[in-house]
Amino acid sequence: MSQTYTITVEPLGVEVACRGDQNILDACLRQGVNLPHACTHGTCATCKVDVLDGEVDFGDASGFALMEFERTEGKALICTAVPQSDVTIEADVEEEDGVVFHPVTDFAGTVAAIEDCARDTRRVLIDLDHDIVFNPGQYVQVSIPGHGVTRSWSMASPPGQPRRVELNIRRTPGGLGSDGWVFAGLAVGDPVSLSGPYGRFFLRDKRAEPVILIGGGTGLAPLKAMIRHVLETGLPHQLYLYHGARTRADLYDVEFFQRLEAESDGRFRYRPVLSEEDVVGMASGFVTDAVDADFETCKGHTAYLCGPPPMVEAALGLLMRKRLFPRDIYREDFFDAADKANDSAIRSPLIRTS
Ligand SMILES: Cc1cc2nc3c(=O)[nH]c(=O)nc-3n(C[C@H](O)[C@H](O)[C@H](O)COP(=O)(O)OP(=O)(O)OC[C@H]3O[C@@H](n4cnc5c(N)ncnc54)[C@H](O)[C@@H]3O)c2cc1C
Ligand code: FES
Repeated sequence: MSQTYTITVEPLGVEVACRGDQNILDACLRQGVNLPHACTHGTCATCKVDVLDGEVDFGDASGFALMEFERTEGKALICTAVPQSDVTIEADVEEEDGVVFHPVTDFAGTVAAIEDCARDTRRVLIDLDHDIVFNPGQYVQVSIPGHGVTRSWSMASPPGQPRRVELNIRRTPGGLGSDGWVFAGLAVGDPVSLSGPYGRFFLRDKRAEPVILIGGGTGLAPLKAMIRHVLETGLPHQLYLYHGARTRADLYDVEFFQRLEAESDGRFRYRPVLSEEDVVGMASGFVTDAVDADFETCKGHTAYLCGPPPMVEAALGLLMRKRLFPRDIYREDFFDAADKANDSAIRSPLIRTS
């Protein structure tokens, strides 16, 4: 059993107990202290703090997200750093009106259904042993059996369905979790260990502006949770969904969203966009081209962007050119292990959106 240390979080002045084999962010999130974070795997630098006192082991932080000189200066990424003594950290804590965070807990899940929903894309439904309370758009960490690592996958199901989560998982060739497990024999009835909810990419439902949602590939998953949440709970938001994929075979849930659109009285508009195939009734080009054509200006909207980092970056640039401010844009980048090995994951300090 590992020793337990006390983490003092400034400027909040709260104390959190953290095991010597547990990362500091994990301890905080489980004890209701919600500090800035996004990827939770040492890649994006969102969780960077100042270590004011005490010793930490930096863990598996990317050398780009936490440079050598920053380590010497006393910075750490708390999603990978584990304490080696009592520690005091100073985090960049920002209060957000009307936002409630839910503590992270562990779940014993069982695969209830698994299907191929698009090319190299699987929908996995997991029954949980107790309810998961979360904000629509958040993600879970799933333990990959036999490897002692976790992978992050967004919940496509809404909070109103707390006992069965839906995940949409794309195969990454050579990937440990997707190629090596989900696509290599995961079956109905298999046990799945997971924890959550994580992330700050979720619907700000107190904001009344119309919402533009842009997803690439399985970046659709958290957007689906937001859309279902709005429409199923009777929230008043106007929603515009853009789902980008290469070809029709890479799209999924087309009929589902077409039906929602037809039943929504104009409150929900769905635009699938294909970059490598022309299909009648669907837009051609990049997802950003379709948004560009539809909106003269995006002023007065909020936007949620999710998927491969280059798509998220391109959509961000477009929306800012269309007069949306950083405070109106929320993003989730689907970083993987390869992104940890380069500097593409480091965000502009201008955009602190999730
Ligand atoms: C917040 C968040 C939410 C996400 N939600 C989803 C989702 O809903 N759906 C979804 O499909 N994905 C999602 N992702 C991505 C997901 O977490 C995984 O990264 C993805 O599924 C690949 O995992 P893997 O284990 O299959 O691949 P990994 O084992 O992580 O490997 C990924 C790639 O990196 C290469 N690689 C491995 N190690 C290294 C190394 N050291 N150096 C260079 N390259 C290396 C591998 O060969 C492979 O090509 C999300 C990511 C984040 C951060
Ligand atoms: S949340 Fe820690 S580096 Fe991304």
